[in-house]
Amino acid sequence: MAQLTGPKKTKCAVFISGTGSNLKALIQFSEKKSSPISVELIISDNAKAKGLKFGKAFKISNKVFNYKDKISNEKNIISELKNKKIKLICLAGFMKILSKDFIKNFNGRILNIHPSLLPKYKGLNTHERVLINNEKYSGCTVHFVNSRLDSGKIILQKKVKISKDDTAKSLAKKILAQEHKLYPKAIKKVFSR
Ligand code: GRF
Repeated sequence: MAQLTGPKKTKCAVFISGTGSNLKALIQFSEKKSSPISVELIISDNAKAKGLKFGKAFKISNKVFNYKDKISNEKNIISELKNKKIKLICLAGFMKILSKDFIKNFNGRILNIHPSLLPKYKGLNTHERVLINNEKYSGCTVHFVNSRLDSGKIILQKKVKISKDDTAKSLAKKILAQEHKLYPKAIKKVFSR
């Protein structure tokens, strides 16, 4: 992503739907001098997303879209992103699927984090499915977003060992802790190319 590098930090928007713990990790990362990004905008499809409170504490502006009309919402999101000169989008627990047109507008500039070792366990309820299949390892993946769900080019992955007594909840917690480290690392990797 050489065109994004330069003396100034690249303006980034983070899309969330819920807790926003990855958003928190990204904001903390972006505050560092060595970070190539600055989080300038938070987009949520859920006015009650906990992550919005965290963004407010850091005085980062946010916009909530109810997604009742996806096409017009996406149009508005794109104009918001253009107004703020956003050059990178980080999806962090965003539960809506972006349209092909939206992705085309930001081709190669949308990243996502997924709580499995992709290409295994795309989609929802990953931890439950991993446990049912008696996997020994799971983990998390940061990847570029393309028009197919959880299928874009992989940037980085982190493996996590599953213990015998892990539940979906305990596994989610273990993996989330790794996600918070992996997302900033993956962003650094993208910008060092
Ligand atoms: C994370 O597990 C992420 O991988 C998935 O949704 C969860 C979001 O968690 N896409 P949080 O809102 O960042 O705490």
